[in-house]
Amino acid sequence: MCGIIGIINLTEKDSVKNTFNGLKLLEYRGYDSFGLAWVDKKIKVKKDKGMISNEKVPKEVSPVSIGHIRWATHGKPSKINAHPHLSCDEKIALVHNGIIENYQELKKELKGHKIISQTDSEIIVHLLEQELKKEKKLEKAFFNVLKKLKGSFALVVLYDNKIIAARKESPLVLGFNSKENMVASDLNAFDDRANKFHSMEDNQMAVIAKDGVKLFEFMKKKKLKLKLEIVKGTKEEIVLHGFKHYMLKEIMEEPSVIRRILNEHVVNGEIKFKLKKFNKIYLIGCGTSYHACLLGEKYLEKIACINSKAVLAPEFLYGNPLLDKNTLVIALSQSGETADTLKAIRKAKKEKAKVLSIINVEKSSIQRESNHSINMNAGIEVSVASTKAFIAQITLLLLLSMYFGTDKKLVKKMLIGLREIPGKMEKMLAKNNMKKAVEWLAKANNSLYLGRTINYPIALEGALKLKEISYVHAEGYASAEMKHGPIALIDKKFLTVIIAVNDGMLEKNLGNIFEIKARNGRVIAVSTKGNEIVKKVADVVLEVPETIELLYPFLSTSILQLLAYNVAVKMKKNVDKPRNLAKSVTVE
Ligand code: M6R
Repeated sequence: MCGIIGIINLTEKDSVKNTFNGLKLLEYRGYDSFGLAWVDKKIKVKKDKGMISNEKVPKEVSPVSIGHIRWATHGKPSKINAHPHLSCDEKIALVHNGIIENYQELKKELKGHKIISQTDSEIIVHLLEQELKKEKKLEKAFFNVLKKLKGSFALVVLYDNKIIAARKESPLVLGFNSKENMVASDLNAFDDRANKFHSMEDNQMAVIAKDGVKLFEFMKKKKLKLKLEIVKGTKEEIVLHGFKHYMLKEIMEEPSVIRRILNEHVVNGEIKFKLKKFNKIYLIGCGTSYHACLLGEKYLEKIACINSKAVLAPEFLYGNPLLDKNTLVIALSQSGETADTLKAIRKAKKEKAKVLSIINVEKSSIQRESNHSINMNAGIEVSVASTKAFIAQITLLLLLSMYFGTDKKLVKKMLIGLREIPGKMEKMLAKNNMKKAVEWLAKANNSLYLGRTINYPIALEGALKLKEISYVHAEGYASAEMKHGPIALIDKKFLTVIIAVNDGMLEKNLGNIFEIKARNGRVIAVSTKGNEIVKKVADVVLEVPETIELLYPFLSTSILQLLAYNVAVKMKKNVDKPRNLAKSVTVE
């Protein structure tokens, strides 16, 4: 959460424009408020509440500048709480991503400082001011302050025409070209201008100046060498291509995401991964990625007959998973930066388990810290609500299950079926009738999403999609659990969305529909095209094409994503940037 950037322009006078553009590219990390600081004889700051994408490019010119976009943790979104924060003498400006856990304690160390915001971050700039008065050597002063900070941080500080950057548990990367020395939360923020980069590791601090960059380990107060890597490939274009929203564009890309994964990992009918078989697998992730883990668990047990367990990453981190060298932990993360998942994989590695990550962002922290990693290659996902990444995750988990599977006949059948999914999905997304369902949900305050076995994770995901972009409350439940409580909610106004496709669970799901109808509830069913019984009993049917039982989750996911999208559009919500959310959740 929060995006930070700092640029020193070595040849031209201006860095502000690129800092501003970099912030726009980081906006997926938060959009509560924004701010920039630059030098014009003294440090100048421009900051405000709201989204930077609504702002005009600043006219100010300065060879050095820093910037921030915020996802609020301490203190509500406001101009005062927006970064950069200034020291009392206005000689230091600071931007921060992370959480300083001991900031209340550190505040007591400050003598005669005026703290104006409610943030944990502002304390650091005053600590630096205090320390720089005592300790004239810049590096030493920073070491002394950084050592005191508990929690997570990526810091970018503007002082004396230099930029000082430090990292502990929040991502930070240095980028270089012949004209600029830069630092930011991710490579993307350099807008294709960096040709070399250094991924900062925990406890590293960089002093970035016009005449070069010095790197240190701040706990050991030791000088380090930069590990420069070449930036490969060009940045993907972020354009809508005629779609109204990125979310819609990304749903429509799902068929091609599946095709790309099949082309990459299936050669001459053989699934190609280089992995040994484990007896026990944990699947970990958060949000949408966790829902993919739940389906992965079912695929691995059914197709590969491997003891598998999906666990929310923070529950895995603070729980007691039984780990050893014979355990494989599959970590799913679109961004590759989710703090809960990152910490969970560190725990897994510490306890000797092997970590395989499935990520969508090359060089992300989770990828770098895993033993093995598979890039889902879904292409940049811009919309905060994850859609095509989920489809990529479940495609890869299915392929992994088939790779480990011993029933060759089943694997062959599944592969044939999976190859047909993109075409079926395309037809389904191009032509569907969901007007009534959209109208009903747009007027509902609450809804229940039901699904059984492999479609249970899809019910959870469908509900998550609806609530995060339309703010209509939606609760995902296993269909059979309805009678154990949620059935009390049913009345003539209450809406239930149920996945009732042509699988072995159809009769059971029909039973649920009857139970809801007997209590006058309204039912929107996701069902297989041509299923006349569901059509008769449900109020509204969203049709998906016929497929193999195990492959229905692909189709039911896409249709429920599209449903949520249409509801949010009807309700005139900010589909791609829903309130309070961020695309990359880098705090615990
Ligand atoms: O980048 P990750 O896949 O690790 O992100 C995990 C969740 O934060 C993410 O899936 C979140 O739930 C999305 N907003 C869902 O649409």
